[in-house]
Amino acid sequence: MTKKQQTRRPAERFDLQSIRREWDIASEAYADAQDRGADYYRFNYFGPAMAEACGDVNGLKVLDIGCGTGYFSRLMAKNGASAVTGVDLSPNQLTHAREYEVKERLGINYIEGDAASVTENLPEASFDLVTACVSLVDMPDPARVIRAAHRVLKHGGRLVFTNTHPVTDTVSREWIHDADGNRLGLWISDYFDESPFNLNWMSDRYKYPFQTTGNSYTLQTWMRWLINAGFILQDFVEPVATDQAIAQHPGLQDTRLVPLFLIIVARKDERLIPPP
Ligand SMILES: C[S@@+](CC[C@H](N)C(=O)[O-])C[C@H]1O[C@@H](n2cnc3c(N)ncnc32)[C@H](O)[C@@H]1O
Repeated sequence: MTKKQQTRRPAERFDLQSIRREWDIASEAYADAQDRGADYYRFNYFGPAMAEACGDVNGLKVLDIGCGTGYFSRLMAKNGASAVTGVDLSPNQLTHAREYEVKERLGINYIEGDAASVTENLPEASFDLVTACVSLVDMPDPARVIRAAHRVLKHGGRLVFTNTHPVTDTVSREWIHDADGNRLGLWISDYFDESPFNLNWMSDRYKYPFQTTGNSYTLQTWMRWLINAGFILQDFVEPVATDQAIAQHPGLQDTRLVPLFLIIVARKDERLIPPP
């Protein structure tokens, strides 16, 4: 690397209308990759790690925000949650989610709308667990969603979310290879740039390429959002793929080089005095 490169294009728009449109277009390819099991990062890496971070969900009332085609909502229902509500902005994503309900009824209630507004309008202290699987970075105002999640949680309830890792999923990033093309590590820059950028999903895992918009926030920003909402940190997980997963999907070796995903478990503790 000889000169600094901005490797991702800044987004022109990142509002509810543009986000809904992008995910409506993406939805068919996104759902298809899951149906075929091609999305192995999800099935063999961050998905199981996030489910483990949620612990025993038996009998819990769960709200899954940015539920997309319902992957994590279904996982929670299958793991014993007593009631699951999924919220997503994209009608097409929810169409896929509801199709799964027709194939295998789990009783999940899907709501279409902006996660922040929908959650603000749900009854206070009505959920045991709020989850967000790779969705908060796709929303225009994660801080507002985190505050709303805190309000709907019961005392002792948890917010569990995963995103790509803030330290490595930055505006500028590029893999560094050896002479044989093997990945050696990751070059990152512009860590403090918190402006939205375009994400191009062009891998052969998807039946057509699509573009969505997301944001990368510093670890400091995430921590302050949680603290200011009144949460305490219960767990902080930087998952790595298991030997078995890497044997099946050698690409997952990358997860041993640098942290690629982060899972946060935050707890609502009403005895906590909110910071001024
Ligand atoms: C990367 S997908 C993740 C979907 C799902 N959680 C999963 O694990 O596959 C991000 C999702 O966030 C949704 N989303 C983005 N902004 C949103 C908002 N403001 N309110 C609700 N959902 C939103 C998108 O429609 C999309 O389905």
